[in-house]
Amino acid sequence: MGARLGANLQSAPVMATPPSSSSSPVQSLPAAGAPADVAHPKGIKSYVRRAGRTTTGQSKALEELGPRYVLDYQSRLLDAADAFGRTAPLILEIGFGMGEATAHIAQVRPGDNFLCCEVHEPGVGALLKRIGEHGIDNIRILQHDAVEVLEHMLAPGMLDGVHLFFPDPWHKTRHHKRRLIQPPLVAKLASRLKPGGYLHCATDWQPYAEQMLQVLSAEPLLANTAEAYAPKPDYRPLTKFENRGLRLGHGVWDLVFRRRSSP
Ligand SMILES: C[S@@+](CC[C@H](N)C(=O)[O-])C[C@H]1O[C@@H](n2cnc3c(N)ncnc32)[C@H](O)[C@@H]1O
Repeated sequence: MGARLGANLQSAPVMATPPSSSSSPVQSLPAAGAPADVAHPKGIKSYVRRAGRTTTGQSKALEELGPRYVLDYQSRLLDAADAFGRTAPLILEIGFGMGEATAHIAQVRPGDNFLCCEVHEPGVGALLKRIGEHGIDNIRILQHDAVEVLEHMLAPGMLDGVHLFFPDPWHKTRHHKRRLIQPPLVAKLASRLKPGGYLHCATDWQPYAEQMLQVLSAEPLLANTAEAYAPKPDYRPLTKFENRGLRLGHGVWDLVFRRRSSP
């Protein structure tokens, strides 16, 4: 979305299943000031509510499909089997934007349930529209801050995977505290994963990729599946935005870490 302005020179490999692990920390970065037990610095949001017109098609989808696919945010644990109408591996996506990758992944992985958070209403409408057009039934949406969803609706060990694709890079140093990938939130994410569950991040902003590698490598509950950056897993599509960036010579970095059974 708007903040993805990376002018990266290094390209990431573009294929296949992640090889097995060994972590490679890079330079050490500050923890951006959050106390260890707080998932994200209090009162500091990882997003700004953007103005943006909801199109007629998106509004129609919100009205017609919202009641079935959008869950209410509640400060109590989610009953995933009830929400999806079946028991299946549960993947959390944080910040799906307009839902292009989300809809693709849900279709190529019909056996998984995708719980997808986005605060931007036109994005929610856009994903609902894709759900309707493609008859997708394994997505449920929470139009709410994913940090609060993680804190209040998800129990330890409940997730099989987490997707965080192209999170806002917050380029300016004074905004780095808004970045999602910081030690306290990563610790919380790791705790919500089952042993063997994965955390997959992707970014096109090299300094944020380096921060991700450093922070994820330092989390005792996580192990890198690659030497450093991972090959792009097949399920993540190259979106229109990413293709354009790659054509312009920008880089994209994928990181895939797995939850250990014990630290
Ligand atoms: C740069 S966009 C990327 C969108 C999408 N993943 C993609 O690859 O196109 C980041 C998105 O994350 C959303 N976002 C940021 N922080 C969030 C949070 N805490 N909870 C839910 N959504 C969030 C923003 O509203 C924005 O739509």
